[in-house]
Amino acid sequence: MLAATSKALFHTLAGFGPLRRLVSRYGMAPEHGFARRFIAGETAAEAIDAARILGTRGFGVSLDYLGESVASAELAAAAARAYADIITAIVEAGVERNISLKLTQLGLDVDRATAIDNLRRVLDAAQPHGFFIRIDMENSPYTDATLEILETVWRLGFTSTGTVIQSCLLRSDADVERLNRLGARVRLVKGAYNEPRTVAYHRLEDVNAAYVRLAGRLLGANPYPAFATHDPAMIEAVKDEAAARGIGRDRFEFQMLFGIRRDLQAALLAEGYKVRVYVPFGKQWFPYFMRRLGERPANVAFVLRGLWHDR
Ligand code: FDA
Repeated sequence: MLAATSKALFHTLAGFGPLRRLVSRYGMAPEHGFARRFIAGETAAEAIDAARILGTRGFGVSLDYLGESVASAELAAAAARAYADIITAIVEAGVERNISLKLTQLGLDVDRATAIDNLRRVLDAAQPHGFFIRIDMENSPYTDATLEILETVWRLGFTSTGTVIQSCLLRSDADVERLNRLGARVRLVKGAYNEPRTVAYHRLEDVNAAYVRLAGRLLGANPYPAFATHDPAMIEAVKDEAAARGIGRDRFEFQMLFGIRRDLQAALLAEGYKVRVYVPFGKQWFPYFMRRLGERPANVAFVLRGLWHDR
């Protein structure tokens, strides 16, 4: 209940222009930029540096060029071009070829055809180089479109792709079955968005119970599931379920966000599990940053300390 209230509060604050301007002005400042804890940088070069360091320590990475809710076809096409440049930069740098993207960044709010065209441009650039492309899951009005677009590109032969399932959504058991049947990789998360009660669980106990149930369905039938969470209870449940089913540690992975629970990331790696770190970067970091605050309001202390330093 508290988690849902906090998400709703930060969702509302994210729409408040003066706050966006204040936070955007100081958040990525070179020395005390409080958003730097969660965001690898504003440029691809900074993200690639972070990916290289993580890679040498044994972590997998997925680079996310931040952006969402793009309102025009021109901006969506520009995002697709930016992704093509990022793909080239990743190949040249020799870091792991794995990216995450959002369909509203590629024009889903303009129309579905625009998003598909731009996604195909990214996939055309990525496929010859053996990239894996994960389509992040946005809030529930986009769930159907995201699954259908994944199925569309899959039928076109782009099978080095996958998406995300949110355990907070009431529909997710059926969606996991659907993706298991397709054979597409699933990243399981609790869900970062403020969702209405008509479509989502609001009690954390229910979201967690669904997470464990869906993890079992994925371990049973998904080709390579990813369990994206910082919650030790979820992580233990996944470990137990995998062990009970005799599923080796190379057949699934844990994923965590850049800058969050680095201790836990390292501990899992030391235990022999695969761990991938999601590395967000770019100038459009404000909505992502606000979701991270909404998940853990204690993070606001970092923001306040950062603002204080910069006065
Ligand atoms: P929970 O929120 O219950 O937190 C458990 C513990 O983790 C907390 O007690 C705290 O210690 C730590 N923690 C969690 N969030 C923190 C934060 N922001 N700062 C500091 N500590 C924190 N969502 C979505 O809707 N669509 C998507 O595509 C994705 N993609 C994605 C990729 C990856 C790699 C991850 C890890 C997460 C996502 N998410 C996401 C976000 C996800 O839905 C969820 O909002 C967050 O992971 C927080 O939930 P937890 O499972 O960590 O548990």
